[in-house]
Amino acid sequence: MSQSVLQILTAHLGAAFAELDLPKDYGRVSVSDKTSPFQCNGALAAAKLAKKAPRDIAAQVVEQLESNKDIISADIAGPGFINLVPSEELLTKRAGELLADERVGACVAEITEKIVIDFGGPNVAKPMHVGHLRSSVIGDCLQRLLRFRGHDVISDIHLGDWGLQMGHLITELEDEQPDLPYFDGDVTDSYPEKSPVSIDDLARLYPQASGKAKDDPDRMARSRKATSELQAGREGYKALLEHFIQVSIAALKKDFSALGVHFDLWKGEAAVDPLIPDMIEQFKKDGHTELSDGALIIRVAEDSDKKDLPPLILISGAGAALYATTDLATIKDRRENLNPDTILYVVDFGQSSHFEQVYRAADKTGLFPREKLEHIKFGTVNGKDGKRFRTRAGGVMRLSDLLSQARDAATKRLDEAGLAQDMGAEERTEIARKVGLAAIKFSDLQNVRTTNYIFDLERFTAFEGKTGPYLLYAAVRIKSLLRKAQAAGVNPGAITPTHKAEQRLVLALDSFNRALATAEAKRMPHILCEHVYTLAQAFSKFYADCPVLQDGVPDETKSSRLALAALTLKQLEIGLELLGIETPERM
Ligand code: ARG
Repeated sequence: MSQSVLQILTAHLGAAFAELDLPKDYGRVSVSDKTSPFQCNGALAAAKLAKKAPRDIAAQVVEQLESNKDIISADIAGPGFINLVPSEELLTKRAGELLADERVGACVAEITEKIVIDFGGPNVAKPMHVGHLRSSVIGDCLQRLLRFRGHDVISDIHLGDWGLQMGHLITELEDEQPDLPYFDGDVTDSYPEKSPVSIDDLARLYPQASGKAKDDPDRMARSRKATSELQAGREGYKALLEHFIQVSIAALKKDFSALGVHFDLWKGEAAVDPLIPDMIEQFKKDGHTELSDGALIIRVAEDSDKKDLPPLILISGAGAALYATTDLATIKDRRENLNPDTILYVVDFGQSSHFEQVYRAADKTGLFPREKLEHIKFGTVNGKDGKRFRTRAGGVMRLSDLLSQARDAATKRLDEAGLAQDMGAEERTEIARKVGLAAIKFSDLQNVRTTNYIFDLERFTAFEGKTGPYLLYAAVRIKSLLRKAQAAGVNPGAITPTHKAEQRLVLALDSFNRALATAEAKRMPHILCEHVYTLAQAFSKFYADCPVLQDGVPDETKSSRLALAALTLKQLEIGLELLGIETPERM
């Protein structure tokens, strides 16, 4: 694969240091936010080694670069920084390479792995909350990015389908329809194929039951009992659970497809329950478990811990397998069936201790190496009041409501900006849908994921600033330019970046691979957001400063600029797609 401008400059600088009998690592070039696009600070460190003044070393390095065709200027600044400007020839060559590359400069990772990403994680019957939304948006972006980087990625939604909510559902349904065969202990097979409940029933039954159980210990005890009977394998309850899961999955699939988020696997906690007894037997045999107050535990604390990490509870005193137990069984399942190198868990900060316990236990028991289990943590989404975000009614949000709110806000913004006005109702709605989704996803992804952010649809849907709609608008503007060019018979040609704004745009394009590689290494989508935004801004500057189709512009310049615009669009669309954002044709 051809090299980026940064890599080429680094090679030149490295060679210059080597000429002076200094380690070539000092030639590392970095992007500069000052007047020149690149800089090398190696002379400062090299000076120490050579026991010379940094500026003298810098001067010697610069001397080496004098006749270098790739560097138009190398100036010494401050104590011995070297500011670097690449030559037009180099940028021309690089632009040509990017133009010829299907992936616009994006390489495949040097080492590729098989990676399972566990994200989304909604709970059956319980409504989704903003944490599930964040997990879905970040997880989906990571799966796209990692796949694009060449990894073999398998995504799994890991449904929460094994807890107390199942006991609530079972008992509440029993109260409503006691004659169903599932509750008759004597009936153990040939249950009806059709589900006795719809998703609306589930949405109703769960809060009904949990509400009652809150103030009524007897009611709670019934739900708990049903949960443990289910876990102990009571046939009627197992059959009901299967219905609950299937009905929920059907509804969730609709929600997630509206969100544009895909999962390869729709497994959940219940799916690995059959693996638990053998797994625990093995743990016992290998001496990893202990009995403590009637519970079966694995100790995971380490001497170096700054905070106490309680033991992982495999089986509670009441005999139930818990969240950590199913997570361990899931690791076993994944290892046996998928054999991944790495497993990523995209789950909020609040579950840090849980995952630390699970990962240590997995390592200790030989299920999976600790360092290959990664908790991709993220912060909370807050309302404008600074508290955890909830819907207007004060409850947890429903994905479909959120998406329609986003679409309405986007429609308002389109009207204010006078966009999409001359289109039919259907196309307008479709554009508003894309703008709304882009708003939600980008405003989530552009935050450093570990921080909290404030949910503000008004701000997210703005067409100015660092927003999804701004980026869509940038892409649509280029599409419209390309259509105009076609109508005018102007064709793209070789790119010759002579204007400063053209050169800046080529350099922005050239940094794509770096952004992708860093975003991958850090598992940080905001790095990709930053790139896409910088690219859109560089295009905007170019478009303002460099007329493309205007009369009087020489044909070759027109073709060059048009090619540069098309190239920008291509990369912008790849970048947006990796963020899970769809671009409309026009707006
Ligand atoms: N269902 C869980 C919740 O709502 C999230 C699942 C996360 N994934 C996992 N393997 N534990 O909190």
